[in-house]
Amino acid sequence: MVANRIQEAAAMRTIIRDSKAMWFRLLPPRLRGDHSLIMSRLFRETTPLLEIEEAVVVRGLVKRYGELVAVAGIDFAVARGELFGLLGPNGAGKTSTMRMLYGGSSPTEGRLEVLGLDVASHRREVKMRLGVVPQETNLDQDLLVRQNLLVHGRFYGLARQEREDRADELLDFFQLRDKANAPVETISGGMKRRLLIARALMSRPEVLVIDEPTTGLDPQARHLLWGRLRELRDRGVTMILSTHYMDEAERLCDRLVILDRGKILAEGTPRELIEMEIGRQVLEIELAGPEREGAAALARDAGAGVERSDRGLLCYARDAEALLHHLRTRGVAPLQAHLRMATLEDVFLRLTGRSLVEG
Ligand SMILES: Nc1ncnc2c1ncn2[C@@H]1O[C@H](COP(=O)(O)OP(=O)(O)OP(=O)(O)O)[C@@H](O)[C@H]1O
Ligand SMILES: [Mg+2]
Repeated sequence: MVANRIQEAAAMRTIIRDSKAMWFRLLPPRLRGDHSLIMSRLFRETTPLLEIEEAVVVRGLVKRYGELVAVAGIDFAVARGELFGLLGPNGAGKTSTMRMLYGGSSPTEGRLEVLGLDVASHRREVKMRLGVVPQETNLDQDLLVRQNLLVHGRFYGLARQEREDRADELLDFFQLRDKANAPVETISGGMKRRLLIARALMSRPEVLVIDEPTTGLDPQARHLLWGRLRELRDRGVTMILSTHYMDEAERLCDRLVILDRGKILAEGTPRELIEMEIGRQVLEIELAGPEREGAAALARDAGAGVERSDRGLLCYARDAEALLHHLRTRGVAPLQAHLRMATLEDVFLRLTGRSLVEG
């Protein structure tokens, strides 16, 4: 019976996701906020049985700090076992959203449910079942690496043997065993991020909220962490992470929302977002100034999306090579041409006219 309902819910989810994708393609970006609201209402009212699968449900969430609107009415839901991303630039409202999720601050408006519990009225229970990795490292600098885990385990009421076993298991999992008795201040930034995640996992949370897992880490440390997060997902931990790295979101997240200035601009799997907004491929061409207008018009006429770059144009097309050929045969002579697959960075640029990473 339950298995049937879950299957039914999965089928409904696919139908809704497909229709969402269709509407997204049809609507211009400025109308997509409304669209997202309409779809989430439809989602809520027509398919209540879907909710049994949801680990997190966010409805009409708003956070204001005085005059400043940090989160401007957002809706999303995260399925159990999903690795879900909030992707957005500095100041988008990622940390504000996450804090409200784990009960670290109260929403100005809106409703939040974690594991079927209303966060406002079940703050304590939600805290016990959720793990939190904050953006700022808040390890206890006076304690050794392993002690940080043990103290946290005691706080969550784990018996002595259980916290020792769990701490050792997590030190192994995050490749920190060699550093078990090192003072926290002597370990690297990558190790500190891993230790923070290990600490959040001491209580065996069902949902893990990770604010910027790899900010400031070198490529090797990031890859190591991504691998561990994927493995946790495969073990069934639901994860919500925030990031401003589009490659992180693209490689790691099953599904994500793109947040900007407190609003959700788009939602989907990385592939869906890229295909919805961009097509598959990008043709970057460098052009002499006077040629740009004409080349842009030609590319648009050929059905490509076009954005300006510092030195020329970015053209979004299903087949970038065919587009380049099309332009060349019509007299466009690029100084340089580069073909590549589209990324989430392109999606963000297309939606906002800005680059995701500032500066
Ligand atoms: N406690 C606070 N009081 C006042 N303003 C705040 C507070 N916390 C955040 N803000 C503001 O709210 C907006 C959203 O901030 P938030 O930290 O949620 O963004 P973010 O997406 O996490 O950014 P980052 O990538 O820099 O971490 C910003 O303009 C920020 O200055
Ligand atoms: Mg933040």
